[in-house]
Amino acid sequence: MGILDSLLSRRSIRRFKNEPLKNGDLETILAAARRAPSDAGAQLYSILRVSDPELRRELARLSGGQKHLVEAAELFVLLADIHRLQRLLQQRGKRMADWPRTGLHFSLVDAALAGAHLAVAAEALGYGACWIGGLLNDPIEVARLLGLPRGVIPLSGLVVGVPDEDPEPRPRLPQKLVLHENRYHDYASAELDEAYSAMAKASRRGDWLFVLERYFASGGTMEERDPAYGVLAARQGFAADWPPSAARLAEQEDLQAGSLGEALARLLAAGWRGVMFSREEGGFTVWLEEETRAERGEGDSPARALAEALASARSG
Ligand SMILES: Cc1cc2nc3c(=O)[nH]c(=O)nc-3n(C[C@H](O)[C@H](O)[C@H](O)COP(=O)(O)O)c2cc1C
Repeated sequence: MGILDSLLSRRSIRRFKNEPLKNGDLETILAAARRAPSDAGAQLYSILRVSDPELRRELARLSGGQKHLVEAAELFVLLADIHRLQRLLQQRGKRMADWPRTGLHFSLVDAALAGAHLAVAAEALGYGACWIGGLLNDPIEVARLLGLPRGVIPLSGLVVGVPDEDPEPRPRLPQKLVLHENRYHDYASAELDEAYSAMAKASRRGDWLFVLERYFASGGTMEERDPAYGVLAARQGFAADWPPSAARLAEQEDLQAGSLGEALARLLAAGWRGVMFSREEGGFTVWLEEETRAERGEGDSPARALAEALASARSG
């Protein structure tokens, strides 16, 4: 099939035959992935191929028991990766600057583009593919299992294999709802109703709201995933105000947070009456206060000073 036909008829495949990819196809789809464009040509991504069956089973379990992670011929994990870039600079005696937000942004983009190329190439060769965001149910455990160093965070899994089902293409929003011209055009109520009508078949119950609610409304999957993602992002160096050194120290004191703001909210919820920062020569000082007690911390950033005060509270 030509690549355009393949793109226009593509759909996720979740049932696979127990067959490997044909000789040479793995190399072809990986070559297609590596052809993807990347910001500044830096290729801020890695592809981790999971060939260990036991590891696959564990990742399938963490993704909510999705069988296709085990049954597909191949399981890849697409990784946003600025670790290799840091190593490359270090190799020539340079120090990478601190750019946690844009680092996360561009490395996720690069990883998504490489993954999309990989999937499209596989589909053009007649294979089926399905992305696996379910890995983000427990991103901290996934990062541990895969041995991800600082600067690397999982984007998503991606399974590829010989299809054992032939589902109809699934619905999409009408073009006019996703395409804006020259200026963003906000949605009229009738257009939103049109979106629900167009997407009705995305739900077995015939109402897209069930899907949107389950994932995105209060109490849904995304809200559940968010705190752990924040903690992992901070650990891996992608949080602007909660650097890995502070995150690690605070975690040793039972404070898991993805940002300084989250850390403060947790401390106040845990019964501290106040947290007072001051800037002093050479760094920051923080006082953690309870009615009869105050703990002092010092550091070269508010986060570090706060983590030191926490450690002092624990040992005091
Ligand atoms: C980032 C991402 C994560 C996804 N995660 C999963 C997943 O964990 N399990 C799954 O079966 N499908 C997953 N999907 C597939 C979507 O459910 C699917 O693309 C969507 O329902 C539209 O269906 P279609 O791809 O067949 O057109 C994911 C897709 C993307 C892009």
